[in-house]
Amino acid sequence: MSITEKDFKWGVSSAAYQIEGGWNAEGKGKSIWDVFANTKGKIHMSQNGNTACDYFHQYTHDISIMARLKIPNYRFSIAWSRIIPNGTGAVNPDGIDFYNRVIDFCLELGIEPWVTLYHWDLPYELEKKGGWTNREVINWFSDYVEVCTIYFGDRVKRWMILNEPMVFTGVGYFLGRHAPGRKGLKSFLAAAHHAAMCQAEGGRVVRSMVENSRIGTTFSSSYIMPYGHSSKDSNAAIRIDALMNRLFVEPLAGLGYPVNDLKMLQRLEPFIKDGDEQKLAFDMDFIGVQNYTREMVSCSPLIPLLWARIISAKAREVETTVMNWEVYPEGIYEMLVKFSKYKSFKEIFVTENGAAFPDIIDNGKICDSQRINYLDQHIHQVLRAKKDGVNVNGYFVWSFTDNFEWAEGYKPRFGLVYIDYPTQKRIIKESGYWYSTFIQRNP
Ligand code: FCB
Repeated sequence: MSITEKDFKWGVSSAAYQIEGGWNAEGKGKSIWDVFANTKGKIHMSQNGNTACDYFHQYTHDISIMARLKIPNYRFSIAWSRIIPNGTGAVNPDGIDFYNRVIDFCLELGIEPWVTLYHWDLPYELEKKGGWTNREVINWFSDYVEVCTIYFGDRVKRWMILNEPMVFTGVGYFLGRHAPGRKGLKSFLAAAHHAAMCQAEGGRVVRSMVENSRIGTTFSSSYIMPYGHSSKDSNAAIRIDALMNRLFVEPLAGLGYPVNDLKMLQRLEPFIKDGDEQKLAFDMDFIGVQNYTREMVSCSPLIPLLWARIISAKAREVETTVMNWEVYPEGIYEMLVKFSKYKSFKEIFVTENGAAFPDIIDNGKICDSQRINYLDQHIHQVLRAKKDGVNVNGYFVWSFTDNFEWAEGYKPRFGLVYIDYPTQKRIIKESGYWYSTFIQRNP
């Protein structure tokens, strides 16, 4: 299989903490997720990612399945604390060796590695110093990115700086439901500004270090609609959209934070230093749009600062996945059109889309027709956007295998490949075979 430039990039995605396990193996330092998930009561049934899919030991097996399914692109993340155990300073040679082996094995099998530099697992030693709320994180992160480019930049050309900054700052530093479990507006706003600085700074580091690199960063996105017909609900939807879909992409595009549509963002000011506005911008080669659902929003006098609330899919009695996310395929089309309007980014890839449904093993097989329908309908919308002129050039399924779904533990299964956790046995689901056939027919 050859890696060509012109074709549409079909792939699968994963993230280190969700699959690797080996949480303290071979010199790895602890991350905020290691600590959070091992704190009783934080995760569904107090589960953790200590072993997860044991990918740390089974990666050759998993990547071989990927090759067998003829999936040509693989997005995975590097665990910062595996290669720099304390977050700064000494590099762990065994950690470097692990990712070298993963990258080499992918290339050997004709699979292009797409590396995410940060998928939520900050080294715990850095959290002790304030983590994302400490402005020093910009230097810690730049140094870490530089280390990754030095060791892997000869073979990895596709880099993604951050995974979904809105989620790791919002859920981790405002709501406290993800690691590191901090709550409050102040910690959220500090973390958000520093993450926005890092997504641009990380891009600059990769561009200066890696020849012929293609640099991107990824954003969570949900199509936002007003629940009712009133102008109050429309304005509430604009505020939520500014927070959930625009907060990180607009400063990167050189447009600044969307303060006009969400006044509470004025409170970012104390964290913004002279010269930051220019440094927030970077001309990414691509952006990764990640979409699963839509949200409907109504005005609410009870939620301070936002004055808006999300009406859950359950209350609306619509079709949902195990995550209680509405199935709404047109949403991905709308998000691609919306993000394509930011002219400073050359192309778009859908770097995550997929669904958790209950999987039943019957006679050794998993006939996950709901997942197949979900993927089929969403891919259809992606290709429709492309036909309508959106420069979207790839699609990655979340996820290759079932894995540790953060606060929800192992219950939601997103994989094309089933994992029987007690035995670590892998079973390719019907959706895995379906995707394989689909991408071979649509090169
Ligand atoms: C995204 C995350 C990814 C996974 C999916 C379901 O927000 O980036 O790690 O958990 O949701």
